[in-house]
Formats: sequence, structure tokens, C-alpha cells
Amino acid sequence: MSAAVNVTLGRIAMRNPVMTASGTSGYGQELAEFFELKALGAFVTKAITRAERLGNETPRLVETRAGMVNAIGLANVGLEVFLKDKLPWLREQGVPVIVNVAGSTIDEYVAVASALDGAEGVDGLELNISCPNVKAGGLEFGRSDKAIRDVVGAVRQAVKRATLIVKLTPNVTDITAMARAAIEAGAEALTLINTLSGLVINARTRRPVLANVFGGLSGPAIKPVALKMVYDVYRTVAREAGVPIIGVGGIQTGADAVEFLLAGATAVQVGTATFVDPRASVDVAAGIASYLDENGFENVSELIGGLRVG
Ligand SMILES: Cc1cc2nc3c(=O)[nH]c(=O)nc-3n(C[C@H](O)[C@H](O)[C@H](O)COP(=O)(O)O)c2cc1C
Repeated sequence: MSAAVNVTLGRIAMRNPVMTASGTSGYGQELAEFFELKALGAFVTKAITRAERLGNETPRLVETRAGMVNAIGLANVGLEVFLKDKLPWLREQGVPVIVNVAGSTIDEYVAVASALDGAEGVDGLELNISCPNVKAGGLEFGRSDKAIRDVVGAVRQAVKRATLIVKLTPNVTDITAMARAAIEAGAEALTLINTLSGLVINARTRRPVLANVFGGLSGPAIKPVALKMVYDVYRTVAREAGVPIIGVGGIQTGADAVEFLLAGATAVQVGTATFVDPRASVDVAAGIASYLDENGFENVSELIGGLRVG
């Protein structure tokens, strides 16, 4: 008998612990050319903002030695077009849909989250708090525990149905303080991590490679950083609060995903690896199942936080 791989995140029942990472598979249609989305535990969309955004100037993506740096700038179709043109297709795919939500004011987060919460076919909302807060001089919401409490608390009041997930930025001094703030304000699950701030320079031109100057580093280079943050948040706050963690950062294989589960994650997301192989996320799901069978586990939950230390 094969091991059970289904997991639950808040009110989202997932067939397996693997989802897409926001911004790396659009709204799903391109990915569906390679496999049926229902092979995944959940599909996570690109960030949605109130109005359409064209994003930053190009170049806005550059490959680095063990990953890539992007400054896409939240390019997206906007709330109205998402609800009208993208969501109806997505909800027919037989996979839970999690919508990544972004904003530059608390009002915008609340407006987008409550409209999505009221729409049929949105199972979860993932708040991307790595966005500049225009009312706080551009400081990202996710870099201050006070701002996290304010934005998550306001969205919590507005969201009734969808599971509320908060995605943390690693660009902070103490990720556990940010996780605690998100949980106390009502997060039902935490995603960690978003990209690490980075700069790529061309010595020949003596110019930054990205038009935006800096961007966010993703891919294999960030996996050890992400694992440490999952481990720290699990052990200091999330386990005790009973809040599941979604681990993301550099996952390419089933073994990578298993490492995140051992560190304390309940589910994982696959991002940059999808650019190398569009089927990466389904291969990761298959890899987790094989690992469980080969190592005599009956249920994927037996791995969560199972890291042997000491
Ligand atoms: C091109 C690109 C676009 C992204 N867009 C978003 C986004 O819209 N919202 C978000 O929360 N994270 C976004 N991310 C971050 C990823 O979801 C993920 O947290 C990060 O890339 C680390 O995972 P990975 O190493 O598997 O890519 C983006 C990442 C990339 C590479």
C-alpha cells in the first residue's frame, strides 16, 4: 500500500503537499499544457492587485550561478480581469485555488482580499506582504511586526470563507518575530520564504543588470536559508500555535521537499524550478511519495518536524 500524501491547510484539503509558488506559473493556463493541474495539492496564482499593473521596466529577470534575480514589479491583470477571465477557468481544474494578494496600502489589501473571498472558487488567500507600504515611506509591510499586525488584522476582519495564509519576507532581522505577529493577527498558515534582496552587476558596463537596479534572489541558492527559517519559525512559534508552514525556496526534487517537511513544513511550493522544467512540481510530488514508500512511512504527516537533532 502506498503512503497517504494528503494534507490539510486551514480549510483547504490537498491531495498532496505540493503547490506552485506565486508568480512562477501565471494563472495556470500555460502550466496546464504540461500536466493536469489536479495533480497538484493546490495552485497559487501570480499576485493580484486592485488595478492592472504592467510591472517594472526590462530587463527584469537575470540568471545567477545558482538561481535568478527578478524585479518583475507585480505585473498582473488586476482584480476585475482576474475574476472575469482567469478564475472561471481555474476553478474548473479540480485543484484548490490560492490567490496571492498584494497591495500598497492596507485599504488595497482589504479590498482585493474581500472581493476574492466573496468569489466562488477561491479556497485560500496568500498575502504577499513583501510590498512597499506607500503610507510608510515605502518600507515593506513585511519588515515591521507592527505593520504585519495592522495589515493581517485588517484583512482578517474582512475575510470570512477563504483560508488566510501570510507569506513572509526573509529580508528581516528576526523572522520569528514576524511569524508571531502574523499568527497573532489571525494567519491560519504561513508561507516562507519570499525572495532575498539581491543585486547583479555587469563589471564591463559598470551598470546594474536589472533596470530596477536590485531584485529578489530565488532558486537553489536560497534553499539553506529557507530551511533555517522554516526550522526556526516551526520550533519557536508555529508548532505551538498549531499553524502550518508552507516551505518555499529552491525546491527542485522530492528530496528537497522532504527536507522542508523535516524542518517543520506541512506543505511546499515549487517556483524557479518550473522555469527549468515545467513539470518540476508534479515530479516533486511523485518524489515525496516514493521517499515515503522507500522509507516505510504510512503518512506524509509523520515527516513534519521530524528532523533528528542531537
Ligand atoms: C519571476 C518570479 C515572480 C514572483 N512573483 C511573486 C508574486 O507575485 N508574489 C509572491 O508572493 N511571490 C512571488 N515570487 C516569489 C516566489 O513565489 C517564491 O517565494 C520564491 O521565488 C522562492 O521560491 P523558489 O526558489 O522555488 O523560486 C516570485 C518569484 C519569481 C522567481
